[in-house]
Amino acid sequence: LFLFSPQTIHHLIVLLLKIPFISKVLKLIYNYQNPVLERKVCGLTFRNPVGLAAGFDKNAEMIPQLADLGFGFIEIGTTTPLGQPGNPKPRIFRLKSDEALINRMGFNNEGVDATIQKLKKRPADVMVAGNIGKNKLTPNEEALKDYEICFEKLYDLVDFFVVNVSSPNTPNLRDLQESEPLMELLNHLKKRSRQHVPEKPIFLKIAPDLNDQQLQEIAEIVQSVGVDGVVATNTTIARENLTAPPEQISQIGEGGLSGKPLRHRSTGIINLLRRQLGRDLPIIGVGGIHSAEDALEKLEAGATMLEIYTGFIYEGPALIK
Ligand code: FNR
Repeated sequence: LFLFSPQTIHHLIVLLLKIPFISKVLKLIYNYQNPVLERKVCGLTFRNPVGLAAGFDKNAEMIPQLADLGFGFIEIGTTTPLGQPGNPKPRIFRLKSDEALINRMGFNNEGVDATIQKLKKRPADVMVAGNIGKNKLTPNEEALKDYEICFEKLYDLVDFFVVNVSSPNTPNLRDLQESEPLMELLNHLKKRSRQHVPEKPIFLKIAPDLNDQQLQEIAEIVQSVGVDGVVATNTTIARENLTAPPEQISQIGEGGLSGKPLRHRSTGIINLLRRQLGRDLPIIGVGGIHSAEDALEKLEAGATMLEIYTGFIYEGPALIK
């Protein structure tokens, strides 16, 4: 499959998964269910702790098929209020020798209205998280409105939310991780959530490029606002732990790095967060999980549940099992 461009293959896989026969055969091979894998988190029951990270099913097109492959939950999005094309192609690159990807997709998605139409047909037996963001053209001062629109429109159709302020591919988005705007945004969404019955959990997704002081501040905000959990981490802008030649890296240019080279940093963040947040606050650990050992490492560092993206691309659905 790696003979084709990443984007071509992504479309091909989506098409193949939608053929019922193929989907059912894959289910027979890969889907594994066992009550010991069940997790109760924030009042929700997950059939297992391995989820699909945001960015793969941006428009909520493949939830039943992905659930058949064995995922315990699917994070759709990032969804923005208006559909947008994302950055010019090529915008996703493989670093095969590093089992990594660099992407600068830029929140290409059909917009929240199209996504809710698809979510109306979602199965109820797999948990779905709605990952929400802002449109590229919305200035940060007005970002709160974008998050609120996505939040309200998705409210009845997802089980919990992930607030994405950590993608490196939307200009200045990560500035929303600073204390003041972050506090304002999270307080606002929590207030909104309390106006609904039932109240739905809100998770915050953070970048791996935060320093210890920033992490500490974020942990304090999470606790003071009453955010329900953290997703750690998004892709990194660092280019460390790579074997790919520097010329290749500089030729690729900007974007977020994911996969194996991210593993160690993301585990370190989970470790720090666990110490700062105490025993009970749920952390979804994501970044460079390519094997069962990598998954255990994240759990031992303090993750409550896990997500995969790049490992799924390199290892295939057997990794979920
Ligand atoms: C992503 N990721 C991502 N995250 C997010 O919050 N919103 C998004 O839209 C996307 N889009 C996206 C596209 C592509 C092509 C990749 C590779 C990644 C980040 C992803 O959810 C995850 O946090 C990181 O990739 C780290 O996990 P892995 O890939 O190392 O398992």
